[in-house]
Amino acid sequence: MPSSGDSTTLASGHVVVPLEEDEKKRIDKNFPTYTDGAARLKPGRWLLLNGFKDVADRIYNFKLRESDVVIVTFPKSGTTWSQEVVWSMLHDPDLKGAPRSQLMDRPPYLEMEVDQWPTWVKAFVPPMFQAMCPGGDASRGTVVQMLEVEREPRVIKTHLPLSLLPLDTLDKAKVVYVARNPKDLVTSFYEYSRTMKRLQFRGSLAEFADHFMRDELRYCPYWEHLREAWQRRNHPNLHFIFFEDLKKDSVGEYRKLDEFLGSKLSEAQLARIMEHTSFSSMKARDEALGKSDQIISEGSFFRSGQTGSWKQKLTHDLESKIDTWTKENVADFGSDFKYFIS
Ligand code: PPS
Repeated sequence: MPSSGDSTTLASGHVVVPLEEDEKKRIDKNFPTYTDGAARLKPGRWLLLNGFKDVADRIYNFKLRESDVVIVTFPKSGTTWSQEVVWSMLHDPDLKGAPRSQLMDRPPYLEMEVDQWPTWVKAFVPPMFQAMCPGGDASRGTVVQMLEVEREPRVIKTHLPLSLLPLDTLDKAKVVYVARNPKDLVTSFYEYSRTMKRLQFRGSLAEFADHFMRDELRYCPYWEHLREAWQRRNHPNLHFIFFEDLKKDSVGEYRKLDEFLGSKLSEAQLARIMEHTSFSSMKARDEALGKSDQIISEGSFFRSGQTGSWKQKLTHDLESKIDTWTKENVADFGSDFKYFIS
């Protein structure tokens, strides 16, 4: 990871550069918990917490296996839902209670070290690591070692865009990409960031949406994240899902997923998994899934699970700003892309 002056070059070829003064000011004002600061990666202008540069090469050089399924999403797009569906299809199709730990430990997500514990990256050894890798040397990276001992097929979650994942990801592993309408996404992300203990965003929804459209939230730019996957939607190892389709036609979408994963579930198994992964069932398992303790008392990780709930939250002005921004960004996506304006 060579450094020169203010910039660092990663194994992926990206250069990590400091934020512009004005964007740093805006971010510092509203994100009190970004104590290590954020940086941009070029090309792509990816915004990530500074600690990412300490784990980026480990992730990029990570050895994927052919049995791996990588769930790639921009935050709040249906990650947890698809994780639970994919994991159940592959590991416990009869819901017999195959040993399930919290979702986060099944397995930990790829960039968790930087995302969950920004100030702990170097000093803290998570208990999960000690349990999974007794005697392991945390300085070699906790997540990659936990993944080494994870049982196959591994279901790996990441919010990183495809271009920051190992170069051979699509040649080696199966990728499930889930996308969500930006208006629902921004509403969900705002509520989450406001009520999440380790984020505690302190601005308004309008300010949050402004950060989103200026690419000032972690893993932005949103459209580039999506575009990288959308361009590969016909790749045999990539399965592209819209959150909205998953909601509207769960049966159809679960069947397609089953076919993609090769899990060959019976109709009865599919029906059981559908019930087990419905919004209400997952919300009721909030604690077991490890989601409840992340949120301050007034909120819930499983908030509404709806499409279109933005209509109660966004002003007309904000709605039309997001529409304009959407139009500007999806011109090259083609007519099968859903989010022109909705
Ligand atoms: S995260 O934090 O990025 O991993 O969040 P993510 O899991 O991607 O997205 C959270 C939103 O997904 C909703 N959700 C569901 N909707 C429908 N059905 C099921 N089973 C389900 N599970 C999670 C969750 O409620 C969040 O959306 P909002 O709109 O905030 O309710």
